[in-house]
Amino acid sequence: MRKIVSLASALLLLASVAVAAEPAAAPAKAAVSLTSADCVKCHAKAPADIDAKGRAHKTKATCQDCHNGHPPTNRKIIPLCGQCHEGKPHYKLGGCLQCHKNPHQPKEIVFGRDVTDPCLTCHSPQIAQLKQFPSKHSKLACSFCHDVHGKIPQCTQCHKAHMAEQGPGDCKRCHKAHQPKNVTYAADTPSKQCSACHAKAFNMLAASKAKHKSLLCVTCHQEKRKMVPSCQDCHGVPHAAGNMSKFPKCGECHGIAHALNNRKPAPAAPAAAAPAATAKKTAPAPKKK
Ligand code: HEC
Ligand code: HEC
Ligand code: HEC
Ligand code: HEC
Ligand code: HEC
Ligand code: HEC
Ligand code: HEC
Ligand code: HEC
Ligand code: HEC
Ligand code: HEC
Ligand code: HEC
Ligand code: HEC
Repeated sequence: MRKIVSLASALLLLASVAVAAEPAAAPAKAAVSLTSADCVKCHAKAPADIDAKGRAHKTKATCQDCHNGHPPTNRKIIPLCGQCHEGKPHYKLGGCLQCHKNPHQPKEIVFGRDVTDPCLTCHSPQIAQLKQFPSKHSKLACSFCHDVHGKIPQCTQCHKAHMAEQGPGDCKRCHKAHQPKNVTYAADTPSKQCSACHAKAFNMLAASKAKHKSLLCVTCHQEKRKMVPSCQDCHGVPHAAGNMSKFPKCGECHGIAHALNNRKPAPAAPAAAAPAATAKKTAPAPKKK
């Protein structure tokens, strides 16, 4: 409820109030004309708010740039944001004050945990990823995770790690926040990280005496989830062509990659012990596919 009448008299009294408060001031003029310096005499909060965190609304706009006139003479003195902000998609959103709660502190932004569309007026790559790689994250609102603007949450805020040795910094070796199911392996992922789910492979390789032991899991199982290399990706043609066609399966003699038994002659094909001459140093440098 507006108390127009009492305000009118208050505004008329302003000049004498000002004189009383500041005896040194010039004598009151007959016609009172408000300036932005007068507002603080009756309004404590707005000037204090602006002083503390007004930012551009303190330095690039005055009270009266926004509040043109005063009741009761002028009743509509609350400005629309769009008077000064136009030309960007963001300024076409409705309900500016739902997030910019206090126009006198424009960057003190508060929003609920269900906001997505307004974010997209400034950020686009994240929604593109969430849509291209559907996951349960795609169904969450942006602000469900980013509940304060600019805040990056840790995965472990909402999820358990796969094993005790894993810290929050490890998650992004394999997962990206906006496409969490599109698991990829960075080339320096320590093998221990795989052991959370592949203890058998990890333990077998660790117990092996063959040179594969010194390789990272991801040196062989590169980049993409479930990628399984073929021996020849790295070893090329290690034996004489004749033997290769007679014994096409490396594993018959060498066992499995995680536990090579190449030092023993193959029991099923003793004749094949011959390839030694051609098997010499095939320089098996791991090559990327
Ligand atoms: C003499 C005291 C006094 C001074 C000086 C004064 N105001 Fe006010 N102002 C009031 C009162 C009282 C009200 C409440 C009026 C009402 O509810 O109708 C008010 C209301 C307002 C409102 C709310 C209007 C609305 O529609 O809700 C704004 C904005 C405002 N003043 C801004 C200013 C600004 C800006 C200045 C300085 C240029 C200023 N006031 C100076 C007393 C003052
Ligand atoms: C950038 C524009 C802008 C500037 C600058 C600005 N205001 Fe405001 N002010 C607003 C808007 C918008 C509202 C309405 C807020 C709402 O509806 O919640 C408002 C509301 C008010 C109100 C009424 C509500 C309240 O908070 O009591 C007063 C009084 C007021 N302003 C005074 C001032 C004073 C005094 C100054 C200068 C120190 C000032 N304003 C500077 C935009 C501005
Ligand atoms: C009278 C003009 C005016 C009005 C009305 C106005 N603003 Fe502003 N606002 C400005 C100016 C000028 C700047 C500085 C812009 C610049 O530097 O490009 C600014 C800057 C801002 C900023 C950035 C502040 C910073 O320091 O980085 C925000 C946020 C903002 N305004 C929000 C709003 C909202 C929300 C409203 C409506 C409640 C609003 N403004 C109404 C003039 C206004
Ligand atoms: C859902 C919340 C939300 C709504 C609604 C909203 N804003 Fe914003 N606004 C933000 C966020 C978050 C920022 C980014 C702040 C930063 O850069 O730190 C921002 C920044 C701004 C800026 C400064 C940066 C720039 O790009 O100019 C202005 C001005 C602004 N908003 C004006 C408005 C206006 C006008 C409206 C209404 C038409 C509005 N906002 C509605 C959340 C919102
Ligand atoms: C008006 C434009 C604007 C709006 C609206 C906006 N932002 Fe921002 N956002 C920015 C700017 C500018 C930055 C700072 C960018 C930088 O530092 O590279 C930022 C930074 C961020 C960051 C931190 C980025 C980093 O690299 O640390 C996150 C997270 C973020 N915003 C999420 C959101 C979410 C979620 C929303 C919706 C609730 C939102 N933003 C709305 C402009 C906006
Ligand atoms: C499941 C939680 C979650 C959701 C939902 C989410 N984010 Fe993120 N966001 C994160 C995490 C975690 C990071 C940090 C990623 C990193 O460090 O690599 C991040 C990073 C960001 C960044 C920084 C730059 C970047 O891309 O890494 C921005 C900006 C951002 N998010 C905006 C958004 C927007 C906009 C939405 C909605 C369309 C959104 N986020 C949805 C968790 C989420
Ligand atoms: C603010 C909470 C929150 C944060 C932070 C968060 N998540 Fe999630 N995440 C969820 C929710 C909620 C689900 C859906 C769970 C369900 O329905 O069972 C989910 C689901 C997932 C899923 C399964 C997706 C599917 O479609 O099956 C993966 C993987 C995942 N999150 C990984 C991550 C990673 C990695 C991070 C960090 C980059 C992260 N999350 C950050 C809340 C979060
Ligand atoms: C070495 C790679 C790797 C690392 C590091 C990793 N993850 Fe995963 N994560 C996976 C794989 C692979 C799956 C899919 C498993 C499946 O399909 O059952 C998965 C699935 C998930 C899921 C969905 C299934 C579930 O278990 O609920 C969540 C949530 C998850 N990871 C969170 C995390 C978090 C949090 C971290 C960091 C603490 C993390 N991950 C670190 C590889 C990794
Ligand atoms: C969160 C658990 C999890 C983590 C961590 C994880 N994996 Fe897996 N991985 C799985 C699941 C589940 C499967 C699917 C098993 C199936 O299909 O039988 C799988 C499948 C595989 C396969 C394919 C197996 C086949 O039979 O084709 C390979 C290879 C593999 N993972 C390697 C790795 C490597 C290397 C790492 C570490 C960089 C790793 N995984 C980390 C859960 C995980
Ligand atoms: C990603 C590349 C890669 C793949 C795939 C790979 N290897 Fe190797 N292999 C190597 C490297 C590197 C060495 C060590 C060479 C050295 O140090 O001289 C090696 C060594 C070997 C050796 C000698 C072992 C020793 O301890 O002396 C044999 C035998 C061998 N590999 C067989 C295989 C077989 C069989 C497969 C398929 C099941 C296979 N490799 C798959 C890279 C690979
Ligand atoms: C030298 C390359 C190489 C290394 C290092 C390696 N793998 Fe493998 N892995 C293979 C090959 C090749 C296969 C297919 C089976 C075969 O022919 O031996 C395989 C099969 C698998 C499979 C599916 C079959 C199974 O045994 O369950 C999983 C899971 C797996 N590897 C995980 C791992 C993990 C975890 C590590 C690290 C601890 C690792 N691998 C290290 C080459 C390698
Ligand atoms: C018929 C049995 C047999 C088959 C099949 C076979 N190898 Fe061999 N391989 C051997 C024997 C025996 C040696 C020599 C071992 C030694 O020198 O101690 C050898 C040596 C090697 C070496 C060199 C080891 C070193 O110490 O330098 C590599 C690498 C190798 N084989 C890879 C392969 C690959 C890859 C395949 C499949 C394309 C394969 N082998 C198929 C029996 C076989």
